[in-house]
Amino acid sequence: MSGPRVFVSRIIPDEGLRPIRDATDATVWEDELPPPRDALLRAVEGCDGVLTLLTDKVDDEFLDRAGPQLQVVSNFAVGLDNIDVPACTARGIPVGNTPGVLTETTADLAFALLMAGARRVAEGDRYVRAGRWKTWGPMLLTGPDVHGATLGVVGFGRIGQAVARRAQGFGMRLIYHDLAQANPSVEAELGATYLPLEELLPKSDFVSLHVNLSPQTQGLLNAERLRWMKPTAILVNTSRGPVVDTAALVTALREGVIGGAALDVTDPEPLPADHELLSLENCLVVPHIASASRATRGKMASMAAANLLAGVAGERLPTPVNPEVYDRS
Ligand code: DGY
Repeated sequence: MSGPRVFVSRIIPDEGLRPIRDATDATVWEDELPPPRDALLRAVEGCDGVLTLLTDKVDDEFLDRAGPQLQVVSNFAVGLDNIDVPACTARGIPVGNTPGVLTETTADLAFALLMAGARRVAEGDRYVRAGRWKTWGPMLLTGPDVHGATLGVVGFGRIGQAVARRAQGFGMRLIYHDLAQANPSVEAELGATYLPLEELLPKSDFVSLHVNLSPQTQGLLNAERLRWMKPTAILVNTSRGPVVDTAALVTALREGVIGGAALDVTDPEPLPADHELLSLENCLVVPHIASASRATRGKMASMAAANLLAGVAGERLPTPVNPEVYDRS
């Protein structure tokens, strides 16, 4: 196949892979596991475009190895913490991501985790499978109510607001925190009240995290802030693992500083099967699947392909995260 040389770092849904294979000279990493660093660096050498996943680190070393002809980095994710965007911008390379299409799907999983954490769904399933279900019990696997409880949303962007809309349907009281207060019309529509973090955490029965990972948010939920939470509160994380200090979380869960945690993302990722978090009954972990509906992964693939193909054609990406690269003459 002739055409621009591109590297796709994993098999993605056909909605994206087909158009890429049709229009380019594509090399696709076909293993289930991501390319090891050495293999990744070898594979991107001489490429005009790369389609990366959140498991691939794109930094100066990567960009040097790819070479000066590289025209686009298209990330198959909305999150960008695997990419040194300023390094790409400095080289005039546009970076694309997949915003919008995964908002509702991610909010669905955040709410599923909230419900499952409250009503001890995973614990109940383990209990039944272990043959421990002997009778109906008045106190068996009791948990907090979701309806009427207070939800604290930390990070009130697209996904945080989509979670808030779900919470409205459960008659929850909504408080939120972000760097800036939301538009009054958004607050009114969602019945959401802005609070500083030190006021939100002690008031919330559930805390759901929806911030990007950045130097400012790394370790945001540390030992001190976990202590601000109610001892019955449940922490839901569908953002990025390092937003929560894992060692502090283990202690908080073990010592009853908080009631429970329901996590889609962890630090480290993947979480080893013998990790202490997995020995705690009040911690539920799923493997970073918040956007994993078939339809949404198809849309992410098609968006990532559109960014890649626009980039290698020298056109503006449909969803660039560093549009300033186009302002240069
Ligand atoms: C993202 O897009 O950033 C998610 O974490 C994976 O869908």
